[in-house]
Amino acid sequence: MAEVVIVDSADAAGELAADAIGHLVVGNPDAVLGLATGSTPLTTWRALAARDLDLSRVRGFALDEYVGLPPGHPQSYRSVITREVVEPLGLTPSLVRVPGDEGPIEFAGEDYERALVAAGGVDLQVLGIGRTGHIGFNEPGSSFASRTRVKTLTEQTRRDNARFFDSIDDVPMHCITQGLGTILRARHLVLLAFGEAKAEALAGAVEGPVTASLPASAVQLHARVTVIVDEAAASRLAHADYYRYAWEHRLDWERP
Ligand code: PGA
Repeated sequence: MAEVVIVDSADAAGELAADAIGHLVVGNPDAVLGLATGSTPLTTWRALAARDLDLSRVRGFALDEYVGLPPGHPQSYRSVITREVVEPLGLTPSLVRVPGDEGPIEFAGEDYERALVAAGGVDLQVLGIGRTGHIGFNEPGSSFASRTRVKTLTEQTRRDNARFFDSIDDVPMHCITQGLGTILRARHLVLLAFGEAKAEALAGAVEGPVTASLPASAVQLHARVTVIVDEAAASRLAHADYYRYAWEHRLDWERP
């Protein structure tokens, strides 16, 4: 079962996620981090940036990217990762990859998988969750064995992401995303969710049936998952009291 930690605020969640990443990097300065975009991980990146950590040797792999935006578009995930993660955290740009950033898009998925394997795999993957239950851009129906590949975004996700663009018509229809099989190979998954809008998808992911219809439920198949959520995102969890109880009574050596 995933460890579920319910906190008061997105800032508190960011601090806990930053604790996990900080602990990893202090033990292994060359650690491989799985990077997520969107609003959810911002408090984590902010908390990490505020710490006195040398992250210059950390290697980073983004979860996903739009297909079809002009290079350098401010909402491309390459731009977002540069702005929100690489620069504030002091990562080394050449050590950070985003799917589709090299070579023709037809081969980009396999190329990314090879690069992940060559790096030794992801040590800690930060994940948000979409209202469709996606992780990365793996929309409902995605195979649990899927690898990095080009996909079509749902209308729901395009609507949800329209806030970053002038209009929904500007949101690309296609994306390239790590697959669920790719994500499941990471050694530690840290799934974050905030706000009532995520409550239903989050409850399905953590407590519902394991089904490709709710791609985030794939995390139930992983041996080491930390779910860090605020009260609103936790509001539909049937076992919330137990999660709180377990966290309050965690052992001294237990950390997210
Ligand atoms: P958000 O997106 O963090 O912007 O809510 C999460 C996601 O779609 O995975």
